Amino acid sequence: MLEGLTSEAIIERGKNVVMNTYGRLPMTMVKGDGAWVWDSDGKQYLDFVTGLAVNSLGHSHPAIVRAIEEQAKEILHTSNIYWIPNQVALAERLVKHSFADKVFFCNSGAEANEAAFKLARKYARKNYGEHKYEVISLENSFHGRTLATLTLTGQIKYQEGFDPLPVGVTYAALNDIEGLRAKIGDNTAAVFIEPIQGEGGVIPASIEFLQAARELCDQHGVLLIFDEVQCGVGRTGKLFAYESSGVVPDIMTLAKALGGGVPIGAMLATDKVAKAFQPGDHASTFGGNPLATAAGCAVLDVMLADGFFEGVQERAAYFQQGLERLAQKYQTGGPVRGQGFIVGWPVSKLGPEIVEACLENGLLINCVGGKILRFLPPLTVEKQEMDKALGILDETLSKIW
Ligand SMILES: Cc1ncc(COP(=O)(O)O)c(C=O)c1O
Repeated sequence: MLEGLTSEAIIERGKNVVMNTYGRLPMTMVKGDGAWVWDSDGKQYLDFVTGLAVNSLGHSHPAIVRAIEEQAKEILHTSNIYWIPNQVALAERLVKHSFADKVFFCNSGAEANEAAFKLARKYARKNYGEHKYEVISLENSFHGRTLATLTLTGQIKYQEGFDPLPVGVTYAALNDIEGLRAKIGDNTAAVFIEPIQGEGGVIPASIEFLQAARELCDQHGVLLIFDEVQCGVGRTGKLFAYESSGVVPDIMTLAKALGGGVPIGAMLATDKVAKAFQPGDHASTFGGNPLATAAGCAVLDVMLADGFFEGVQERAAYFQQGLERLAQKYQTGGPVRGQGFIVGWPVSKLGPEIVEACLENGLLINCVGGKILRFLPPLTVEKQEMDKALGILDETLSKIW
């Protein structure tokens, strides 16, 4: 598509026809292999963004390519008014390796959170009555861009201009147990938490906060919902982020890495909660179609192979130590934080400048909130590739800091 055109020409044409909803970097990515990508001018980059935590097995992983190729030859899509064998297979894998008993499939993180919001309201109404519809979300959270998930998103900058928003959502501060206790009550249907706030700056929820949230939810008949759209599916060095805290939710949402690059979302719940949905309550035309769920099975089969997560944890520790050394060398302030391969590095106002200079130098990284560099390399990234990325960062900071 648009072969032979330079990046500049493609970008110019794009500005004429593509809606202006992203502050895009001046780059066009056309090919990927493992941790590497190429732009349409043939320039090579190390990809430590991975489509924002999507290409977690790297680009063009052979197992995903094979699964997609084979599935495309059979059948691409069928409606959910029929049974979809790959969907059953993917749900079985997710159920076997999580707290959940049932899975609903959709296409994105926002859609998975929307489904969780609806399921929580339905469950609360059925079990407790009409008064119980309020949802507590957290300040600084991010849950998506549909009107309901924008309302869950506890950042005014995303909500401005789109009111009136759906009613019944309030916000508590992350890691403030007393604040949550003060908000939760008889009218609360659910509490939404990202175990690690990704867009909010890679800020982990403390184990104490998650434990307290679980206890408070149990006391008040409230569902605990974990949004693992960004931090789930291997990103933290475990299949699901909640495994590290030992705190188990009632509902969990996934998307991003689950399809390895093919759009898919999932909402997982215990049987007790899932029973609140009956046929007709919720649906999604493309949700869990044969192609997306073939990719999802391939992703999980790679991740669940013996030793995969041990390798991720070891390499992630190496990378975090490397970043920590640079943070000390340049005295950037605030600690490097995160878990596994979701890492945040506070760099004051210089974030966007560092991202642009790294792009120039062949390394793709991202910045959240203008001040935190966010690193989301493939879980399969190799030691030499991390060394190369750390070298580019060192060189870049030596000129900018
Ligand atoms: C934690 C979290 N939830 C939900 C979403 C929304 O996902 P999507 O963009 O697939 O709708 C995101 C996207 O970044 C996210 O990070």
